[in-house]
Amino acid sequence: MARRKYVVGNWKMNGLKAALDEARAIFAGAADHAAVDVALCPPFTLISAMADAAPGAAVGGQDCHAAAAGAYTGSVAAPMLADAGARLVIVGHSERREGFGESDADVKAKAEAALAAGLSVILCVGEPRNVRESGGAIAYVLAQVAGSLPAAFDPARLAIAYEPIWAIGTGLVPTVADVAAMHGAIRARLGELSGPAAAEAMRLLYGGSVNGDNAAELLDAGDVDGALVGGASLTAAKFLPIVAAAAQLG
Ligand code: PGA
Repeated sequence: MARRKYVVGNWKMNGLKAALDEARAIFAGAADHAAVDVALCPPFTLISAMADAAPGAAVGGQDCHAAAAGAYTGSVAAPMLADAGARLVIVGHSERREGFGESDADVKAKAEAALAAGLSVILCVGEPRNVRESGGAIAYVLAQVAGSLPAAFDPARLAIAYEPIWAIGTGLVPTVADVAAMHGAIRARLGELSGPAAAEAMRLLYGGSVNGDNAAELLDAGDVDGALVGGASLTAAKFLPIVAAAAQLG
């Protein structure tokens, strides 16, 4: 079964209400590429308004708490995201793992909470620069996959995003061969962990400085089923060429 291409925008801590016009333009433009699944993950504050502004669109969160409710000041639970209109959530982004000290066990608990709330999940992994330079990237990332993967899941609702930390927001990207090698290794490890059918069905996204110029090449790499896009997802002008590149590859 062919895996549908999946292009997801991560707005990070960007976006006021005025940015809903860009979201509308993005989802309207994405409708021209029906073979591609497109999602946007704005800040918590915009989820409800974006879901209302683009009915039927896949809007998601960028993080959730592992608990369903409770005394966790400042946090947002997965059922709250679903209630606000989100269909998915990113967990384990390196800006959370590094900036907020999230461990693999934390990420696994968040992914399980999100699935339990009926959300789809994009689970991020990726190595820092020194690990890449020392030749340990694949082992590092496979350990993150094994440590962060939910205990049980529907493969249609869990995607893995490989995002080398040194490529995020830097304009640097790995070679296509390195991306293909990593994605192939992740899929093989998923096969060992969850069985070959699940591994075959799961979508593996590449993230880190994806833009309209490099998307076609990166999305065509072996075992790459889509992209997780930060900076270039903030405007329709920059994001839709990435969606179009995915559509070309079917
Ligand atoms: P970038 O971010 O596209 O701005 O490099 C990607 C990400 O952090 O998901």
